[in-house]
Amino acid sequence: MGVAPVVYGQSSHRPPRGDYSRAASDYTCTQNYAAYTEADHATWRQLYARQSALLAGRASRDFIACLPQLGASERIPHFEEVNARLRPATGWELVGVPGLIPEVDFFRLLSQRRFPVTDWIRTPQELDYIVEPDIFHDLFGHVPLLFHPVLADYMQAYGAGGLKAAELGATELLARLYWYTIEFGLIREHDGLKAYGAGILSSASELAYSVSSPTPLRLPLALERTMRTRYRIDDFQQTYFVIDDLQQLLDFASADFAPLYARLATQPSIEAGTLLPGEVAVPTRPAH
Ligand code: PHE
Ligand code: CO
Repeated sequence: MGVAPVVYGQSSHRPPRGDYSRAASDYTCTQNYAAYTEADHATWRQLYARQSALLAGRASRDFIACLPQLGASERIPHFEEVNARLRPATGWELVGVPGLIPEVDFFRLLSQRRFPVTDWIRTPQELDYIVEPDIFHDLFGHVPLLFHPVLADYMQAYGAGGLKAAELGATELLARLYWYTIEFGLIREHDGLKAYGAGILSSASELAYSVSSPTPLRLPLALERTMRTRYRIDDFQQTYFVIDDLQQLLDFASADFAPLYARLATQPSIEAGTLLPGEVAVPTRPAH
């Protein structure tokens, strides 16, 4: 994919954002660690500290339990240093990428248990919000649960399922499942809803919003309903889908999606935030 390099940032030494010319044919690139500035490490430290302080009572217990294995609270980690812990834990490894990559290449990497991590970090002006993934989102949001055996297997199955969906022309439907689980998923715990989705866990403002605001709609995850639901990439979600435990993801994923795609191809999509007749929203707190 020929993407023009974007001239970016205060310093020409930072890993350049949007420069795909340094990537290999599978879109991976080496993490040019020496290119991070002290300001970049300070941004990482600030994001890490702020986000960690918000987790209690909002992030899923599995995420909180796995986070220490990421390490790296003080400086941007070397991917290889994380890999030395991740490979023996679940067989996953991190690979660097210059940014978002084409979906089939993304699916292929996941199917090989290789997780693409954007190697550049946001600027201080983007501390609170950035629309594209950066290294903080990818590492802090996604990587802790790659240490969890169930989530690790789900991610690989998703990658393999993506390659199949691409052949069936159904990647838009499957991408919604990724969005509403891996990126913005909520899980029911005994004392209330918690976040396990990376897009929530790496956001200071959406974390509390997703689990406790009365505004958004929360529904139980159901394959057809979830894959019919549109999503927004540039604002808080209007609908979240809730699971009871991570194993439920693997159980859903074991079905053959081909008949589902065929059925869904004839059905209209649903706007986010819409409660259909007969549906019951999930409350943020247990009833008693
Ligand atoms: N089982 C799905 C299929 O047959 C693939 C899949 C796996 C989808 C994991 C989502 C998550 O297409
Ligand atoms: Co993400």
